[in-house]
Amino acid sequence: MPGSSQRFLEKAQGLPVDQVFLDLEDACAPAVKESARHQIVKAITTGDWSGKTVVVRVNDLTTHWTYRDVITVVEGAGDRLDCVMLPKVQDATQVRWLDLLLTQIEKTVGLPVGRIGIEAQIENAKGLVNVDEIAGSSPRLETIVFGPADFMASINMKSLVVGEQPPGYPADAYHYILMRILMAARTHDLQAIDGPYLQIRDVAGFEEVARRSAALGFDGKWVLHPGQVDAANAVYSPSQEDYDHAELILDAYAWATSAAGGFKGSAMLGDEMIDEASRKMALVIAGKGRAAGLSRTTSFTAPEES
Ligand code: GLV
Ligand code: MG
Repeated sequence: MPGSSQRFLEKAQGLPVDQVFLDLEDACAPAVKESARHQIVKAITTGDWSGKTVVVRVNDLTTHWTYRDVITVVEGAGDRLDCVMLPKVQDATQVRWLDLLLTQIEKTVGLPVGRIGIEAQIENAKGLVNVDEIAGSSPRLETIVFGPADFMASINMKSLVVGEQPPGYPADAYHYILMRILMAARTHDLQAIDGPYLQIRDVAGFEEVARRSAALGFDGKWVLHPGQVDAANAVYSPSQEDYDHAELILDAYAWATSAAGGFKGSAMLGDEMIDEASRKMALVIAGKGRAAGLSRTTSFTAPEES
């Protein structure tokens, strides 16, 4: 949500989303960036953000705005702020700079040191090349976010439609980028989040692009419009069928490895052989399903004879 728009700052509070980020960067015109800092502080401290992760995106470190963005927002609303998002991160020192500044502000105003997290956007070639060290650069880091619009500009991709395949390329032009971000995120136990889809009236297009990163393992995607929210929640949550199946695998494997199941390391669930690796896969799907609020529609029954 642009931090310069009172209307959007109010609207954001009622949306069924996991996170809201209030923007001081590219959705905020240069002339209003300074006043937007104060509008954001007011919105965070007086609004009802319950159930949502509250994040502010500051300007990137090639501008002169970043330090005042961080100081104004964190001094003013640090106790209710979950993360600061740093865009166009190019190397680990930029994240460390933000970590140190946050620590100084927390100490100055008496906030618990280290509670405020950092989200790093990967939006250019240098950021992607350095993404492994960026992902390991600070214990505050929670999330790596792909920024397709800036990224496409940074590498001169021959397309103006953000997130869509560039015409003339026969495969997925984003596979390498997404995988590289995902590997860095998983190596450091961080969330991997896909960026925006700008054709806000084309929900089918949004879904198609979202399915690509969801299939690889990304945890979620930005939405720019309320019309994209349901699609995002659906695409990044498991289907009911997969959720039920995952819970069944967990039960069946727990039973098989118990005394009642004969301490077996592998077992049959219907026609499917399951083992410890199946349990790990099932844990991911079951965890996402539980987080999305799904309930089981099937239950496990131990086989009579093993
Ligand atoms: C988001 O910031 C993007 O550049 O896509
Ligand atoms: Mg960007």
